[in-house]
Amino acid sequence: MSEAKKLAAEKAIDYVEDGMIVGVGTGSTVAYFIDALAAWKHRIAGAVSSSEQSTARLKSHGIEVIDPNVAGPLQLYVDGADECDPHKRLIKGGGAALTREKIIAEASDKFVCIIDASKQVPVLGKFPLPIEVIPMARSLVARELLRMTGGQPVWREGVVTDNGNWVLDLHNLAITDPVGLERELNQIPGVVSVGLFARRPADVVIVGGEPPKVL
Ligand code: A5P
Repeated sequence: MSEAKKLAAEKAIDYVEDGMIVGVGTGSTVAYFIDALAAWKHRIAGAVSSSEQSTARLKSHGIEVIDPNVAGPLQLYVDGADECDPHKRLIKGGGAALTREKIIAEASDKFVCIIDASKQVPVLGKFPLPIEVIPMARSLVARELLRMTGGQPVWREGVVTDNGNWVLDLHNLAITDPVGLERELNQIPGVVSVGLFARRPADVVIVGGEPPKVL
């Protein structure tokens, strides 16, 4: 699938303009996008990064990383996803970067999501839903998730997010009301963010292939 990821990432360059500050997500597909940005014939003014991982790659290419509080609203955010439904609603957070990704997606006018075809699903939920939690609330949140959804929460033990928090992955869901579920799970005390991007879905989805499909 890595060739498809690369093709999707390279197509996303069509949305980048000379001198822009670009919001940059996290993951293996985004790594191709960062490389494509570096190889591009024009230059961006800088990037707002969603993770330490992406920051390191951006800096290794000499791309300036800008504090989101300084950058202000962004025209463009480019990121991958773990699942994408026909309404461009997403599950994200397989790389544990969901909170910063959600902040940047919200701050951006256009969210271009780059995926390979294996990420397309009719209904979200086969991929376990990542939820970032404050460490002291892990067990409370897990009990609430079980009670509210019937899904199986599994602690991603050993993983600490860039914000110093932990991740629970919620298994065995068929998410028929993503907006409602996102709203509901966000209410649990101790939840930092939910890896459902339904209230703010992608605007454009690029599925890598020869040629890439733009949805
Ligand atoms: C990072 O936390 C995730 O949201 C990624 O965007 C997602 O896991 C996609 O990753 P890949 O591009 O590596 O498949």
